[in-house]
Amino acid sequence: MNSEPRVVNIGILGCGVVGGALVELIHERREAIIASAGVELRVTHVAVRSASRERPGVPNELLTTDTRSVVEADDVDVIVEVIGGIEPAQELIRAALASGKPVVSANKELLANYGAELSAAADEAGVDLLFEAAVAGAIPIVRPLRESLLGEDITRIMGIVNGTTNYILTKMSEEGASYEAALAEAQRLGYAEADPTADVGGFDAGAKAAIMASIAFGARVVAGDVYHEGISDITKADIDYANALGYEIKLLAIAEVLEGEQREVGVRVHPAMVECNHPLASVRDSFNAVFVEGRSAGELMFYGRGAGGRPTASAVLGDLIDAASNVVAGTHRSVPVGAPCKIRPIDDIESAYYLNADVVDSPGVLAQVAAVFGEHGLSIRSMNQEGGNGEDDGAQARIAFVTHSAKERSLQAALHDLRELDAVLSIGSVLRVIEG
Ligand code: HSE
Repeated sequence: MNSEPRVVNIGILGCGVVGGALVELIHERREAIIASAGVELRVTHVAVRSASRERPGVPNELLTTDTRSVVEADDVDVIVEVIGGIEPAQELIRAALASGKPVVSANKELLANYGAELSAAADEAGVDLLFEAAVAGAIPIVRPLRESLLGEDITRIMGIVNGTTNYILTKMSEEGASYEAALAEAQRLGYAEADPTADVGGFDAGAKAAIMASIAFGARVVAGDVYHEGISDITKADIDYANALGYEIKLLAIAEVLEGEQREVGVRVHPAMVECNHPLASVRDSFNAVFVEGRSAGELMFYGRGAGGRPTASAVLGDLIDAASNVVAGTHRSVPVGAPCKIRPIDDIESAYYLNADVVDSPGVLAQVAAVFGEHGLSIRSMNQEGGNGEDDGAQARIAFVTHSAKERSLQAALHDLRELDAVLSIGSVLRVIEG
């Protein structure tokens, strides 16, 4: 580009691993950004919690603990929010938008709860609110859903969108680690927090599912609409069973459009047995992937690093260049705010299931169990039995079933009745099954 680049001043709220990596990347990529976009990004202020800590690569004179002053500074054209959490991030973003400053945010929790309101505020102010980094880190998924797939009728999204839990499940599957040992290793490596609840309980993945559902289906879906189950009850035995049957256990975030009397959206996060020939089954370690199904495009998969300083900063930087270019052009991308939609309750969601139970090994027991399945409309797809010697008094066996697709309500009713049978000693694992 021959003409002088336009300087766009950046104020960054937060300087943790992502904020620090972003400052470094802006510096490293300066010439390339000027060449490709014709803008020079200049970081003028960085708001931090404590200005006394050393931050390699971030000049001290940029640091301030006064977050509001960064939003209000005359030499800030675009705000980047990488603080995380609801407040003060929300209040700061609203103030920035109201004063006509575009915002780039990586804040999944905030966007999953207030995304529609904040997008409306951005639109009203005529500026961008961009948040590629809020879902699956470096993986481009927000922009493809919003732009490349705008004409597509997306029916379902299934994602492995939490690296910590994928790391734990991979260690359990490939190295035989217990859940506790794999979690401790994830904490040692800095993937899992000291309090791992947001990751292992499925809340982090749930926020990402809500954001993806809102964009993909043009619907107003918030974090509270997402049903979650985490991975803390998954045992090594569950993983061994799954592997023996040709499945991997993965924590999936699933968002789907369900046709019926009216269009509904189902959004859930839970562990599932994913058949080994499904592309999601081979997503290992702390990697993320999002599998999108559309009526015309068919199946698409987006794969990569879902967390970490530089991968997340890379996604923030892409948005930042877009927002800065729009500032220079005096334009912004108008984002339609999703329409209210009906969320289908988990009881009405259909899935295939795997379950196992320890039973008395004597004549007629399998018939009693099968009768319960039949009474609740659950069709058995496959069954196997381990152990037992029906000739001995007190002999037990473990029986395992995979069902055809059925409603959660029917499965729960069958489990209730199975527990009432004298011959059923205990129900073991119950997992949803995703076929390849
Ligand atoms: N804690 C998340 C993960 C990254 O483990 O994937 C941030 O969303």
